[in-house]
Amino acid sequence: MFDDLRDLYQEVILDHGRKPRNFRRLEDADRHARGDNPLCGDRMELWVKLDGDGHIADAAFQGKGCAISMASASLMTETVRGKSAAEAKELGTKFRELAMTGTCPDCGADLAEEMERLQVLGGVAEYPSRVKCATLAWHTLNAALEGAKEASSE
Ligand code: FES
Repeated sequence: MFDDLRDLYQEVILDHGRKPRNFRRLEDADRHARGDNPLCGDRMELWVKLDGDGHIADAAFQGKGCAISMASASLMTETVRGKSAAEAKELGTKFRELAMTGTCPDCGADLAEEMERLQVLGGVAEYPSRVKCATLAWHTLNAALEGAKEASSE
């Protein structure tokens, strides 16, 4: 990866890690789940509000974790807004592929904009122990959408 691009990605991660977007409780949420990363003990809580059509109207989280887990949750809550549960889960599947391999060859044009935004976290693929940091929020979202209360990044 070009150094300039790497620096830019790092900057975005640090910015979201320091000032996570949607870092709050959602009192009127329709879905809620807790997620934990057993490797480090970090935990997060996620709330999702659905609109009348079952699309995600709002998503918010709170928790304690490293810059990567906080940045990933922050980016995720911004990216899934307006998506149906099925679309959000599909996005999560693609993101996990990106986090594990650094690329997502079968990410079609329909998700190009979302994946471009999430691409800043693709660098974790080079650090296997950080993959779970990046995917924790997405595991937690899956649990919330499926009605489960707990998720683990294991
Ligand atoms: Fe705990 Fe990253 S070190 S989530």
